[in-house]
Amino acid sequence: MPKTTVRAAWPLPLLLLAAALLLGGCAPAAAGPVAVAVDAGVDSAAVPAATRPPVISTGVPPSPTPAPSATPTAPPALTASPTPLATATPIPSPSSRPSPTPDRDILCSQRLPGSDLLTIVTLTYGLSRDFEPRGLVPLDGYLPKEVTLGYPTQLRHVAVGPLVRMIADMQAAGLHPFIISGYRSYSAQAIARQKWFEEEPERAAILSAPAGFSEHQLGTVVDFGSPELPEVVGQEDIEFHTYFYKTSEGMWLAENAHKYGFTLSYPFEAFEITGFFYEPWHFRYVGVEMATHLHEAGISLTEHQLAEEPPPCIPDES
Ligand code: DAL
Ligand code: ZN
Repeated sequence: MPKTTVRAAWPLPLLLLAAALLLGGCAPAAAGPVAVAVDAGVDSAAVPAATRPPVISTGVPPSPTPAPSATPTAPPALTASPTPLATATPIPSPSSRPSPTPDRDILCSQRLPGSDLLTIVTLTYGLSRDFEPRGLVPLDGYLPKEVTLGYPTQLRHVAVGPLVRMIADMQAAGLHPFIISGYRSYSAQAIARQKWFEEEPERAAILSAPAGFSEHQLGTVVDFGSPELPEVVGQEDIEFHTYFYKTSEGMWLAENAHKYGFTLSYPFEAFEITGFFYEPWHFRYVGVEMATHLHEAGISLTEHQLAEEPPPCIPDES
């Protein structure tokens, strides 16, 4: 496997705009320059392979790049601002909603949520370093090596069946998805985050969560890869890039993942709400009912959670 290299960071003006967004003082138009960078096809959209433990080597299968199965979709509307929280469409009493949320009277750094699929994890609402989800299983017992790439990726068992069905349907459609990352422990996330800061210090904060604040610690998140990505990006050893949305696998997932219970955690439009840059490869299992609701309402899980759920824990003073 070739070692994934890291390309140049964002130009300073874009970083300042992104920082402004992160600080919550953004105007809707602030999304524009970020998108322009993506549209320009420059390295500003390149993402290093540091969201999983660096002990795992990186790379993509050396298979030929198939032609896209459909015309790439246009990026999301550049001037669209995230939907205000107050207008989020409520979902009528889904059976998987926690009621009441049991862990909201404790510090977020001590939070040990149960097995609910809708546990909120954001830059504010974190998890204990001791939290490890129950029911983790190695994916290599369920998926072929061309999908797992031979890595010891784990996921909660509840998400494995839907994942296997989804990947089988993708393969039946002539696609070649593979899995770059799944469950990451608190310590694995800390290592990944450190690597991000070493390799892309300017962008690390919007591309990698601090330990305890990553959805990957829930064990229900998958980062997908596409063999088309190197050609789409024009970089042989690229692993993560926003242009994943242009690949056949990325387009299929954006259109169909909700039917299997997976939702895109960090849509382009939700940057202001999630605090993370667009990650078209990062899908979280939340069940078909919720994933379909989010897809049809055009909102992110975080947006729904913040509007509909009580605060799950007390943010630590920092
Ligand atoms: N890349 C996402 C935000 C994570 O580190 O969990
Ligand atoms: Zn991810």
